[in-house]
Parts: sequence; C-alpha cells; structure tokens
Amino acid sequence: MTYKLDMTMMVTVHDALRREAERIARITARTGDDPRRLLGAAVGWEMFKTYLRVHHTTEDDMLWPVMERALAGQTDELALLAAMEAEHALIDPLLESFDAAIADPDTGHERLGDLADSLTTVLGGHLRHEEREALAVIDLSVTEEQWRTFGQEHSRRIGADASRYLPWVLDSAGEERTALILGRMPDHIRAAYRDEWRAAYDASKIWEPSGRR
Ligand SMILES: [Fe+2]
Repeated sequence: MTYKLDMTMMVTVHDALRREAERIARITARTGDDPRRLLGAAVGWEMFKTYLRVHHTTEDDMLWPVMERALAGQTDELALLAAMEAEHALIDPLLESFDAAIADPDTGHERLGDLADSLTTVLGGHLRHEEREALAVIDLSVTEEQWRTFGQEHSRRIGADASRYLPWVLDSAGEERTALILGRMPDHIRAAYRDEWRAAYDASKIWEPSGRR
C-alpha cells in the first residue's frame, strides 16, 4: 500500500509496541522468577506504558478530531474513527490491571499471564485494524500540514525523553527504516543518537530488573 503521507514513523511505533508486548508476554511466562518483580522493577515497563499512552492520546487529541471534521457525513469512515477511539479506551484499563497485579502479593502472579494474553490480543488487534483500515482514511482526509503537526505534537509529548525514546522506537526497525528515519532528523539529534543515545539504551537493558532508571 502506498500513501501520499509518510507513514514510516507510524508503523515503526506500532512495530515497537508489538515488540514490547511480546517481550512482556515472555516475561510473564517465565517460571524461574516472579514476573511481578521482573516487570515491576524493569524500566521497560514504565517506558512501554508511557510511549503507548503518548501515541494513543496524541492520536485521540490531534488526529481523530481533525479527521472527524474532514469526514463529516461519511458514515463508514466516522464509524471507523469511533472504533479507533473505543479500542484505545480498552487499553488503559488493561495497563492499570497490570499494575494492580504487579502490586498484589497474593494472586497478582496468576493474573499476569492472562493479562499479557489480553494485551497481545487487544493491542495487536487494534494496531492491525488501524494499519489495515485507518491509515488509508488518514491518508485521504489529513493534509500534509496536519500530519506534520501531529508528528510534532507526538515529539513534544515525548519531550526530553527523546534520548531513550528514539533508540527504543528503532530497536527492531531494521537498517533501511532506521536510516530513513534518522535521515530526516536534525543533525544534532542524529549525532546524539549515534554517539550517545544508542549505546546508553543498549547498556541500560530496559527489561532487566537492574536496568538503570
Ligand atoms: Fe497509531
């Protein structure tokens, strides 16, 4: 599928979220250690929640409302946007249930496996739905300028955390896509990524309980 708008960052963020949901599922399936401790003490869990929320709330605030105005009267497209918002609304309570299970010394351990399955299903289903149906509608109804504004607001909400976010988002992106994304960054960001951020992220081992905070 080719789009007029550049969807590279959107699908790269989605891939990063899917990758982390899989890692979370693997951690909850481990038997040798308590997954509550592993998740609760891993900086990767906090990063996953933060970046997932930034992505979804920026879409909710900056993308769907712009599209609703552009698509006024188009019933099918508006129903799709309502579905995107409804799917987002399912994910926050799931993250809260995770944190409740992590904090529950009695039965939390048993609940984590089911929660990880739900996360993979609900988040994976949502991202697939967005990619298969919503990206095409975004492409038709959002202007280049609105798309740039959405991207800028997404970056603004990441803020000073960019030094961890960029290597996180590119962690599984592959050489070609990494080069494409870095190629569009300002020189000082590209240099910081190459000289400091990547190595700091790799060294911080975000899914180990001792990972640096
Ligand atoms: Fe998205």
